[in-house]
Amino acid sequence: MANALRLGIIGLGRGFMLTLPALKADSRVALAGAFDLRREARERFADEFGAPAFDTLDALLYSPVIDAVYIATPHELHAEQAIAALRAGKHVLVEKPMATTLADCARIERAAADAGKVLVVGPSHGFDAPVQAAAQLVASGRFGAVRMVTALNFTDFMFRPRRPEELDSARGGGVVYSQAAHQIDVVRRLVGQPVSSVRAVAANWDSSRPSEGAYTALVTFEAGAAASLTYSGYAHYDSDELVGWIAELGYDKDPDRYGEARKRLATLSSQDEIEAKLKRTYGVPAVAADTPAPHHEHFGFIIVSCDRADLKLSPKGLSIYGDTERDFQPIEPPALPRKEVIDEFVGGCLGIRRPIHDGRWGLDTMACCVALLESSRRNTDVAPNQLLDTLSEKP
Ligand SMILES: NC(=O)c1ccc[n+]([C@@H]2O[C@H](COP(=O)([O-])OP(=O)(O)OC[C@H]3O[C@@H](n4cnc5c(N)ncnc54)[C@H](O)[C@@H]3O)[C@@H](O)[C@H]2O)c1
Repeated sequence: MANALRLGIIGLGRGFMLTLPALKADSRVALAGAFDLRREARERFADEFGAPAFDTLDALLYSPVIDAVYIATPHELHAEQAIAALRAGKHVLVEKPMATTLADCARIERAAADAGKVLVVGPSHGFDAPVQAAAQLVASGRFGAVRMVTALNFTDFMFRPRRPEELDSARGGGVVYSQAAHQIDVVRRLVGQPVSSVRAVAANWDSSRPSEGAYTALVTFEAGAAASLTYSGYAHYDSDELVGWIAELGYDKDPDRYGEARKRLATLSSQDEIEAKLKRTYGVPAVAADTPAPHHEHFGFIIVSCDRADLKLSPKGLSIYGDTERDFQPIEPPALPRKEVIDEFVGGCLGIRRPIHDGRWGLDTMACCVALLESSRRNTDVAPNQLLDTLSEKP
């Protein structure tokens, strides 16, 4: 397409690979350049897309052939790279978590406002089609007011191959930054009200994976709704059982492959683990192109309770449990995974519609993540807005 958004990629890793099918298929987007520290990834990108693989970040940011960037580098690099890109006049799609501190998230948001450029934080599971459909149904008021959300997810997150910083809480490691960022996005989208407080316990109970591996939280909203969020990444129970044995990325899962993540990790040295993580990234020959997932992505078991119905989300649609009747509203299977985030970002860049998951949205989600950790540390309720107020009081 002649007027396609010319997108530069910063970070050709696992996150990029999950978004790549939607990027490749969208004629409104042209993959116009990339930067990564890994030479093999840069070379493969240049070969596959016939586009420049830049030697430095600045070369990409100041290239006239790039209109916008997608930042999919490790969490702790997001702030500096996003701010540099916005100052260079590029629109920015930045992976979740937006950054590793609230102050950095606020700096990114301010840089977007100063530059007058579009900023979207995602993909997250808040973009998933069943979440959007349920959010619209809740907002329509058809079943009365939203009262409660129950969200739980039990995965093997902590036992997948990890980079060392992914297990270092001080650098944004553990499940709160990586996984609560999804779950909070989902419940905020469903409830559609500002969060008033968070009460939580975040746990770090396995010294072999020394970062927060689980949490449970009560999130209250300004108009009175409440959500309970539970997450465990300790690779014991697998809550995909509760969504018909469909995995997070929308593929069917074999329940008999119990314990695989732990068994595999037990055979790896620290160096092998880093290499195993690398094998899941772009530019590494071992990674074959995935076949498209038959179902929508999801983030575990989620029920929204309204005055007159409970809505259960699934990767295939919404089950509606009303006063006297039960109904199932199927949702068309996905044309492509993560298409929704590209729609929102491109729509914002082309001025078609304002993104929902903009800088302010990302900042508020991060304030909830930080509130979750703070609540656990201080054993008290924490208001995310107070954390943001404290931030704005600092010089
Ligand atoms: N939305 C999702 O579902 C999802 C899934 C996976 C990852 N992610 C996010 O993507 C980000 C990256 O995680 P990942 O799992 O893809 O990690 P990864 O290690 O697979 O990929 C990171 C990539 O960044 C490159 N890189 C490192 N330092 C760099 C630098 N200074 N400049 C340019 N490139 C650099 C690495 O070489 C690698 O290719 C994280 O923030 C993570 O939360 C999101």
